Amino acid sequence: MNPVPLSLLPDSASVQADGSLAIGGCDLSELAAQYGTPLFVYDEAHLRARCAETVAAFGPGRAYYATKAFLCTAMARLAYEEGMHLDVASGGEMYVALRAGVPANAVALHGNNKTVAELRMAITEGVRHIVVDSFDELDRLDALHAEGLPAPKVLARITPGVHAHTHEFIATGQDDSKFGFNLGNGDAHRAVDRMRRSPSVQLDGVHCHIGSNVFEASNFAKAAEVMAGFAIPLDLPELVLGGGLGVPYVEGEEAPSITQWGNVLLDACQALGVRSNVSVEPGRSIVAGAAVTLYTVGTVKHIPGVRTYVSVDGGMSDNPRPVLYGSGYEAFLPRAVTAPRPARARLVGKHCESGDVLIFDAGLPDGVAVGDLLATPVTGAYGHSMASNYNKLTRPPVVFVGNGAARLVVRRETFEDLVQCDVG
Ligand code: LLP
Repeated sequence: MNPVPLSLLPDSASVQADGSLAIGGCDLSELAAQYGTPLFVYDEAHLRARCAETVAAFGPGRAYYATKAFLCTAMARLAYEEGMHLDVASGGEMYVALRAGVPANAVALHGNNKTVAELRMAITEGVRHIVVDSFDELDRLDALHAEGLPAPKVLARITPGVHAHTHEFIATGQDDSKFGFNLGNGDAHRAVDRMRRSPSVQLDGVHCHIGSNVFEASNFAKAAEVMAGFAIPLDLPELVLGGGLGVPYVEGEEAPSITQWGNVLLDACQALGVRSNVSVEPGRSIVAGAAVTLYTVGTVKHIPGVRTYVSVDGGMSDNPRPVLYGSGYEAFLPRAVTAPRPARARLVGKHCESGDVLIFDAGLPDGVAVGDLLATPVTGAYGHSMASNYNKLTRPPVVFVGNGAARLVVRRETFEDLVQCDVG
């Protein structure tokens, strides 16, 4: 029933005299007219503010942006310009970061199953750290060293046995996990012993990541405590406590700010006597709230006694999170941002399956009609980065807005792009 909470909108969102929404001084309907829909609109000042907040909270060189949340050349540059290092989780993410001009010594490579080619690329380029995830990866690093490659600086990824309160698909700190060396069964100690003795790697520290979209500060404090207990006797220079800070997606949700998160982690480490550099690698909390997705309503179908379906021109290909994790979103009309939303509808996309749902039970203003521009806020993380070409939809463009100007940073895919890789 309530209007969309303005707290879910990007920092520079403002309601204009006619009740419509501008972000970064740009009118959303004008952006839609210029770039088409679906369209990701990011508030550049919001992105920069979250990067700067993280660097201020943890210190220069101790804040990595987890690029998996949203990566393109402009985003890699922006995070680096704001003083962040970059966490990449594949050769492809590493390539985009380096290609954007981010120096390799500001990049850390993650992954539970890094290929020999990815490891070779990381070593040859000279990344800051490889975060080693398994004994098999250590075997691969031994083989690369035997080929004559230098021994890279590494961190050991530890699975601390901490259950984060989040969706099971994105919880990673518990014993039953594909990630890292388990603390509980002795693997973590065995891995660290091997790395300390190994001529193929230089062990610089330890790392953990308990999960994503975590709202409870106590989960992070617990992970810090467990990791401090493991790390202090090792006396290594680096302790990385991962990302994972949650963000509010819908009315009524609340999450700690980055500054509060920093205080929880750093206070816990200090109280426990950690002397290593403490770093983090947030993704979602940097980018999620910075963006809204704009869609055009294409059909409105009333089924008396059942429900109303409102279909937009995107769907699970630009935001698979509702289908994957049951994640909630809000929707509103940019032309009437403060309008109450008494109508109920299922907001769906244009894909050929019933599971293509953006909001299962959306509150919308009365009178939503074909041709309306509709927006979903908090789509800046794991939307564009998880976008697909299902049904051969072309992936949406991305614009950065600020100070009344918009710049296109990712263009819309074309039909021609859809056959670029076809060779037969
Ligand atoms: N570090 C590591 C080792 C990670 O695995 C992740 C996320 C992060 C940092 C960044 O976490 P964040 O601050 O963004 O929570 N697709 C899912 C999220 C998957 C997160 C995977 N790892 C979603 O849409 O919710």
